[in-house]
Order: sequence, then structure tokens, then C-alpha cells
Amino acid sequence: MKISRRTFLKTAVGGVLAAGIPQLPLGYTSSQSKRLVREFRFSASPARVNLGAGPDFVAWTYNGQVPGPEIRVKEGEIIRVVLKNFLPEGTTIHWHGVPVPNAMDGVPGVTQKPVMPGETFVYEFEARPAGSYMYHSHVHYQLDQGLYGPLIIEPSHPQGNHDREYTLVLEDWVMKDGGGVADTTRRLPPMSMMGGMGRVRGGLEPGGSPLLEPVYDGYAVNGRVGPEIKPLEVKKGERVKLRIINPSSATIYDLRMAGHTLTITHADGRPIKPVKTDVLRIGMGERYDVEFVADNPGKWLLAAADTGLGEGMLRIPVHYQGVNRKEAIPPTFHQGARFATYGDFQALYPTGEAALEPVQRSYPQTLSGGMHSPYWTINGYVYPNSERLRVRKGDRVRISYWNQSMMPHPMHLHGHFFKVVNPSLPQRQWILKDTVIVNPMQRVEIEFLADNPGNWFHHCHNLYHMEAGMANVVTYES
Ligand code: C2O
Ligand code: CU
Repeated sequence: MKISRRTFLKTAVGGVLAAGIPQLPLGYTSSQSKRLVREFRFSASPARVNLGAGPDFVAWTYNGQVPGPEIRVKEGEIIRVVLKNFLPEGTTIHWHGVPVPNAMDGVPGVTQKPVMPGETFVYEFEARPAGSYMYHSHVHYQLDQGLYGPLIIEPSHPQGNHDREYTLVLEDWVMKDGGGVADTTRRLPPMSMMGGMGRVRGGLEPGGSPLLEPVYDGYAVNGRVGPEIKPLEVKKGERVKLRIINPSSATIYDLRMAGHTLTITHADGRPIKPVKTDVLRIGMGERYDVEFVADNPGKWLLAAADTGLGEGMLRIPVHYQGVNRKEAIPPTFHQGARFATYGDFQALYPTGEAALEPVQRSYPQTLSGGMHSPYWTINGYVYPNSERLRVRKGDRVRISYWNQSMMPHPMHLHGHFFKVVNPSLPQRQWILKDTVIVNPMQRVEIEFLADNPGNWFHHCHNLYHMEAGMANVVTYES
């Protein structure tokens, strides 16, 4: 089955499913005890896809499409997703960034048993707070096989004054059967050969040793690669909002738009004081809402470079209505371009006390690996042999990352937003995020309020680092 952009739109908007998989309604709505329940039916199944350029191949999909359908609801509504598993192995769905109740968090071995082939599982949780999120499988390498999609929670009362909005899902693809796991020869040596660092999570995938990061064939936006990436159509004078979401397994993007300045309005869904930037860096698991004013008619490109290196890995055309111009103008990534960093962000709605609040628990986390060992570790441990971060409800918890490796690690905490410590700002203005890039040889500190009891996964959002050990669990003790 070919998945064209048209099919994608039909599926997402009209609830018409592609042939070859069970016909189930999408976005079915019912009212239950005042709260609106928005019900979505997801079939996880292998399906033949085509990203518009390149070969057909078999990806693992929700409802036969990549990315999965956009879930778009209003704050306060109840999201109910009925997941039926047509894959040959167990699966789960994680609602990345949404502070759901622990049992709905979708982490195998931590919050639930995998949903086995033929089984159905119902996820249900309140959509709160408003923002841009994503969902994805949390089993094995399924994220890099296509099992992810955008999740948008709109504010209950309209906010902002934009005229047009686009969701941009940035994806790294191996366009072969199986997606990112197509080349299973690229494996790390078994842990037993590494000596003394503990055991790799058992039964992860056949062979029991983690895969090496693949070499990607292409980069997609909303399931389309290269010249098939759908243009952003704009009209002169419009204010355009982009929800940029990065569920890629192993790619950080530096985005820049020719002819326009981007204004960042939300980081990981949380509102920040608007920041103008030329280049926007977005790591795996991060989301940024940006706006631009369409005040420069023409044909332009919003393009991505791979963390400052390969320019033009991904080009999104920006077309003004009524402009006839053959070639779109690309941005340049020259030195001296404005480059927003976490230090430039402050919360739009400051929270917490004006004075410094005491920290009850403090956990240093040294991130290493890649050089002396191909495994990726936190404080020298490989998951699940890693230390538990023990907290008590009501604690203010600080995590201090120290990246001793030569790779950036987008660290993600489930179930909570954390504040990114910014010594140059009062604590109440620190931004809230759920994923933070820790660059090579750098320190980053975060703090969170332990307000959501359970066992919560905490890990690097490079899928290949996570599966090679860079994870642990935050545990509430009573
Ligand atoms: Cu995107 Cu453990 O998550
Ligand atoms: Cu990492």
C-alpha cells in the first residue's frame, strides 16, 4: 500500500483509513460525565510505505501511515486511544511530555507489560497542559521503524494571534524494510565481552546486543522526503505558527529560514517570552513552537543542517501565494547567525517562589560512553542495572548532568516538567521543559517538583544510546 501525502491528509482529517488494515473510526467523540472523551483507534501494523521519493519499503505504522495520525484535542478533554497490536511483537505507546498517570505512561517493564500481538490496550488520560507533544512506541527500536506521531493539545480558549498553523514532524529514515533496524549487522559487541559494567537489558532484541546507530537514507517532514516535502503556503501579511516536533531517533536539526526571522514562543509546549533567532536547534524529543511574519514575498526555504555540518539535509519550501519564481532561495548558515540557546529563554508565566527554594534531593548524573566502551552509561551503569533516583512526593529534586562524552545527549524525564537551572535568572523565571540537550563536555542542571507518584523512565532520547544503556528510573518511595 502506498501512503501518499493525500492519503495522510484524508486519514488525519476525514478519518478515512487506508485499505489493508482494519477499518476503524478515528477521532470518534463522545461525552462522558461532562468531560469530552476523544476516542482514537490505533492499529499498530507493518505497512508498505513510500515517502514520495525513494523506494517502497515496509515500515511499522499506526493505521498504515507514517507519521501516525495527528491527535489534536483541547485542553481538559479526555484522550482515549484504543491500541490494537498487529505487529509480530509486543508494543506500547508513550505520550512524550504529557504528565499522564503512571499506569498510562507506556514504558515496558516499568509501567506496563507490552501489549502482545493480537491484544488490545486502552490508554486514557486528561489532555493537560496545552502544548505540542508527540507519542511513540517505547519498545525496542520501534520508534525508528515508524511508530510515532504528533500530539497537539490546543488551549481551551484560543490564544495567540496567528493566521495559519502548520505541524512539522522531522524524521530520520532508513528507507528499507524494517526502517532503522534494517541493518542488523551493525551491532555492538555483547556486554559479556565488555567486562564489569553490568548486564544489558535481557531479551531486548534478537542477539541481545544493542544496534549501532544506522546511517540514514533521508530526512522527512510529515512523511515526505526531498523534493516531495510539502511546501508551507503563506499569504503576505500573515503571522504563521509552526509546531516543530522531533521524534527522530538519532538526529539533531539546526533549522533556519531564508528571508525571515523566527520567533520562538514555546519550548516543549511551555510558553516562553518570545525570542528571535536565526537558527533553531531541536534535539530528539524536543518540540518548539515558532512564529514568523510573512512580510517578504517570494519562494524561500526553511532548511536544516545537521548540527552545523551538512547543510540542506532537509528543505521545506515556503511559498507565498501568487508569487511566480522557479527557484526557492536557501538560507545560509554563516558564522555570526543568531543562535538561540536555553540561556536565552525565560518562562512567560513565572512559577514558584521568588526566593530560592531548598532542594531535598540532588542527583549528579555523569553521562559517558562511546569512546572506551560502545555502551552508553549514567554514572557508569547500564540500564537496568542503573541506580534508581529515589524521591518522595513533594520533594524538589535536582539532577546535575555532566557529559563526559563527545556526543550530545537529549535527556528526557517522563511524567514531569522540569526547570532548566539558569543562574543568571531568578528561579521563578526558569523555563519548563521535559527534554534538554546536554552537549559534549558540558554541565546542565535541572530541577523538578516530585508531584506525580510512580516509576518514571529517565533517559537519553537518542534511541541507540537508550537501548545501549543510557537510562534509569525515578522512583517514588512512601
Ligand atoms: Cu519520548 Cu522515554 O521517551
Ligand atoms: Cu545520548
